[in-house]
Amino acid sequence: MRGIILAGGTGTRLRPVTNVVSKQLLPVYDKPMIHYPLSVLMTAGIRDILLISTPHHLDAYTTLLGDGTDLGIHLHYRAQDHPRGLAHALILGRDFIGDDQIALILGDNIFHTPHLADLLQHERRRLNGCTLFGYPVPDPHRYGIATLDARGHLTRIDEKPAHPTSNLAVTGLYLYDNEAVAMAHDLTPSPRGELEITDLNRAFTATGRARLVPLGPDATWFDTGTHDSLLHAAAFVRDHQHRHGHPLGDIQHTAHRMGYIDDTQLAELTRTTPTDRHLTAPHP
Ligand code: TTP
Repeated sequence: MRGIILAGGTGTRLRPVTNVVSKQLLPVYDKPMIHYPLSVLMTAGIRDILLISTPHHLDAYTTLLGDGTDLGIHLHYRAQDHPRGLAHALILGRDFIGDDQIALILGDNIFHTPHLADLLQHERRRLNGCTLFGYPVPDPHRYGIATLDARGHLTRIDEKPAHPTSNLAVTGLYLYDNEAVAMAHDLTPSPRGELEITDLNRAFTATGRARLVPLGPDATWFDTGTHDSLLHAAAFVRDHQHRHGHPLGDIQHTAHRMGYIDDTQLAELTRTTPTDRHLTAPHP
């Protein structure tokens, strides 16, 4: 399976800071936002990852993350000339994907659940069509909302519904079989010229090959695209790290936990760029 992180877009809701800085480079407590989705893909056992950003910001990501060798992974980069929608990632990434399956994740989404590695690796093995992950939200009119039938099968997805039929938001992590690439090519762009991920997910739903896995009650999910959610996410990471004493979304420790790097490599990495200095600091 190949991973793709979408770190482009315009970040309108975080202006004025996103007039000059890429949203996904903003700090979420003690590390750049992009580390969190990268850590999720690594936790899923994915080691070939394509990062997509704007032509203007791509260099900053290559400077930050390099080619991934120090983490035992392979990072690739591609510019999206214009925000052409989330499903456009599958077209931009076509050569990179080849005939493999795909895990697409949004660069501003933060996931935490105690058994994430087991969950993702289990869902990778079960994948048949498309697998989405749902999270209950208090304000469903702001999200893509999933409706499940009595047996828990995904029957429809409504984008920002005025009259929501559930509170289960479709989060920004999508697993696809390879046919998603051809399906993305067949999508009709929205009036704004974007290839909508919801249209792709609806196409899979129509064939009965879309599943939605509700993230359990222990899970936390943030879409950090607004000032408030960014602040909430940072507070969550800080509190979690202080309480549990281990880093969240830390790519170095994830690489070590997954066996991509050994003890010596981790020691060298944390010596040059320590990431655990905020674990035991007292609350301000
Ligand atoms: P959004 O949050 O939907 O869009 P945005 O980041 O441009 O923010 P805003 O709505 O405030 O203007 O995008 C979700 C993620 O996908 C985010 O990480 C940016 C990324 N993205 C792309 O990389 N390319 C795109 O064409 C779009 C639309 C988003």
